[in-house]
Formats: sequence, structure tokens, C-alpha cells
Amino acid sequence: MSRRSVKFVQAPGPTEDQLELILSAALRAPDHGAIKPWRFVLVRGADVPALVDVGVRAGIAADKPLPQPKVDNARKWLSKVPLVIALGCRPDPSGRIREQESLLAVGAAVMNMLNAAHALGFGAFWSTGMGTYLDGVGEALGFDALNERFMGYLAIGTPIDAPDPVRRPDWRDHVSEWHAPAEA
Ligand SMILES: Cc1cc2nc3c(=O)[nH]c(=O)nc-3n(C[C@H](O)[C@H](O)[C@H](O)COP(=O)(O)O)c2cc1C
Repeated sequence: MSRRSVKFVQAPGPTEDQLELILSAALRAPDHGAIKPWRFVLVRGADVPALVDVGVRAGIAADKPLPQPKVDNARKWLSKVPLVIALGCRPDPSGRIREQESLLAVGAAVMNMLNAAHALGFGAFWSTGMGTYLDGVGEALGFDALNERFMGYLAIGTPIDAPDPVRRPDWRDHVSEWHAPAEA
């Protein structure tokens, strides 16, 4: 109930044992057909800020340069982040299980990582900024452009500021109840 996304984090990041827990929690996500679509790439420490350059280069190559204020903000943000997990999905190559189900299995794994990071006292934030949807970014991070989908970045570290209170939607606004139709 207390989890919320925390964008601005700093070192220390998770220890090896804590990272092992976070990634093990990820692989406990449901997965129709046991496709095992999860593909994660760890980016740590001094390598993290270079992620911005990957997006910048892809933007220039695609003739869609990332706006300078966004680039500056991303640089400032990532200069302190100790760990980024690049998120990828490899859907069922046979097509038997629909791609959306594998994307959901990866989303469920990311949710498990967000919860695990929070339970360990870390802050975490899922971003599809920094050129996530530009051609070449996923490939530059090691994903197979043909068979894998790059799904953004999960930043994890120690929260810099105390979290602001957050108002959550009332579940009643999102839930209805279905009843079997009356027999004719
Ligand atoms: C797939 C996905 C991509 C997201 N990408 C961004 C992003 O690029 N920039 C951003 O400000 N928030 C992004 N968000 C939203 C934040 O990760 C976060 O969910 C939001 O700030 C609300 O925080 P909460 O998790 O505490 O409700 C994304 C969320 C999801 C699920």
C-alpha cells in the first residue's frame, strides 16, 4: 500500500544479494505458455549516464532529435542513479501465445521489481523516455531488433527526498460487478 514510484534516487543501489532478490521476484511473474519472455539488461554506476547518449544518437539518426531540455533533465537525473535495468520482451516466436500476453508478463515482472525494490527500502521508477521508442535504442542496449521489444528503463536507488504524499484513485471508481442474466 505504501509503494509509489520514486524517480530521483542516488547511491547506494542494491547490493548483489538485494539485486538477486529483485530479479528473482521479477521471474515470479505469471507467464502464459511458459514463454519466459523476460529480457533484462543491467546498467550500473558509471555506465548509467551514457544511456542518455544512446537516445540522443538515435534521435539524430532518425531525424527526430530529442528536445534539449529533456536531454538536460535526463542527464541530471541519471548522473545520480546507481542502477538501471533496461526492460525487454521476447514474445513467443511461434505466435501461439499472443504478443500482448508476453508484454503483460514483462509488465508483471516489472511490477514485482517495483514492489521488491520498495520492500527493500529503495525507490524505483519505470520510464519510457530517453528515446525508448526510437529505432536503434533497444538494439544499442543489446536487444534483438527483430525478435525482442525494448520496453524502457527501470531506475533503482536510494530515494533522495522524502516521498510526497500521493492520492490514489478510489477502487470503487474502477470496479463494477457482473451478474448472470436472468433465465428466460
Ligand atoms: C510503461 C510505463 C512507462 C512510463 N514512462 C514514463 C516516462 O517516460 N516519464 C514519466 O514521467 N513517467 C513515466 N511513467 C510513470 C511513472 O513510472 C510512474 O508510474 C508515475 O510517476 C506514477 O507513480 P506511481 O507509480 O507512484 O503511481 C511510466 C509508467 C509506465 C507503467
